[in-house]
Amino acid sequence: MFSKKEPKVIITESKVYKQSEMAALMLKMYQANLENKSLILEGKTPNAFPEEFINIHTAKLTDPSDRNASFKVFSEMYLNTFQQDFKTEKDSLKAKHNNTIYTCIACHKTTCIGPIPKIKKLLIQ
Ligand code: HEC
Repeated sequence: MFSKKEPKVIITESKVYKQSEMAALMLKMYQANLENKSLILEGKTPNAFPEEFINIHTAKLTDPSDRNASFKVFSEMYLNTFQQDFKTEKDSLKAKHNNTIYTCIACHKTTCIGPIPKIKKLLIQ
């Protein structure tokens, strides 16, 4: 479960690092969008908006200096765009889903470029 006090310790190859709250949240966001991608491809409506994602405004970052003015703007943009996914006609689901993924990428270009290739896989071609 998601715990604020005990960050999960991840062991990869030789390095051990503590996963930040934000990294844990991002992985959930990734998972949710991956599931929605499959649902949309099957012609189904996406899962409900997980309220937990609002924690993007507060979750602790590996590098706290990432949370600057533009980070706040990108967080709002992401949440607003994502919420649109659930208030749309079926035939525009694909475009709305892709808009959400573009907001993920927009923020990542300014903060954390590493996961961008992985995030691009969430786009529906
Ligand atoms: C407001 C900026 C912002 C938005 C929007 C954003 N990210 Fe992130 N993301 C980050 C930052 C910063 C990190 C690094 C977090 C850390 O290390 O504390 C990160 C980390 C990640 C990681 C790596 C997690 C790990 O450690 O393995 C993935 C995957 C990820 N984001 C996917 C996504 C997806 C998918 C979306 C959209 C649904 C998204 N992000 C939206 C800023 C953002």
